[in-house]
Amino acid sequence: MSDHQVKRVGVLGAGTMGGGIAQCAAQAGCEVVIRDVSESALSAGREAIESSLARLLKKDRITAEDREQTMSRISTTLEMGEAAEGMDLIVEAIPERMDLKVEAFSFLGANAPAHAILGTNTSSLSVTEIAAASGCADRVIGMHFFNPVPVMKLLELVRGMNTSDETMDRAKAFGDRIGKESVVVNDWPGFATSRLGIILGCEAIRMVEQGVAAPADIDRAMELGYRHPMGPLKLTDLVGLDVRLAIMEHLFRELGEQFRPPTLLRQMVRAGKLGRKSGEGFYQYGG
Ligand code: CAA
Repeated sequence: MSDHQVKRVGVLGAGTMGGGIAQCAAQAGCEVVIRDVSESALSAGREAIESSLARLLKKDRITAEDREQTMSRISTTLEMGEAAEGMDLIVEAIPERMDLKVEAFSFLGANAPAHAILGTNTSSLSVTEIAAASGCADRVIGMHFFNPVPVMKLLELVRGMNTSDETMDRAKAFGDRIGKESVVVNDWPGFATSRLGIILGCEAIRMVEQGVAAPADIDRAMELGYRHPMGPLKLTDLVGLDVRLAIMEHLFRELGEQFRPPTLLRQMVRAGKLGRKSGEGFYQYGG
């Protein structure tokens, strides 16, 4: 089984993460099929990939031919079966809800080839629980990518309780091939990255709530004082306030008080202030 190089990749979800994962795999020469539940989600995903490639082209990081070839390797579908059958790797990047993940992995367990690796891009949910739904937990692994995927070097590989060494090795080899550097983490709520990243974001929001400083000053403090590329509130706007709230709710249940979501965050999500994607979060965007 170990000589199966990943050539065909299925991606479930055409959102920010799924699109980025598909783009990286296609740029590395894999044939990619992206599946989502609506034509509008699929076309928005394609457009995001096109604009990311346009950005790379403008910076002379890729050629016009690379861009064409990358796009020609990506196809889209509404059928989950078309993103599972014949694939060497399927990466799930659908919303962070255990019921949806369980449904997807039980389908993949029944429909993906017997050699395929089944990866989940969950940022905090239990890989072991997701794997259990597949009936082939040895081939299920957490493959946690970072936004923006084409730029961020890290691939956090999460070993579920039953993930095999062979699956770990093959997922790492795929990460190497698409230019990512992997770290291996055991399956524990929030893994390494979300557990640390969320606590910083959570505390920054509590500081806004308490009137410690304005969002821009909290961000500048971490950018200039700690050399973070962007402060925790700008980053929350980039990731999405709803996404961060869902992760906090989960980590609060699993790990306790330090992850209790700030009331301000709940209120902003209820008001539709979701960050960049809605035009407003801790900052205002666009028009
Ligand atoms: N596609 C392709 N290239 C992109 C891109 C995209 N979507 N977005 C940015 N870039 C490129 C730019 O073209 C630019 O390229 P050059 O270096 O060749 O000039 C480079 O990335 C930097 O971009 P910018 O100059 O526009 O802006 P910047 O220097 O402020 O960097 C950033 C932007 C890369 C987003 C940087 O601010 C950063 O690293 N921020 C932190 C991001 C982060 O922490 N992500 C993790 C989020 S948590 C997560 O994803 C996990 C989760 O579970 C929720």
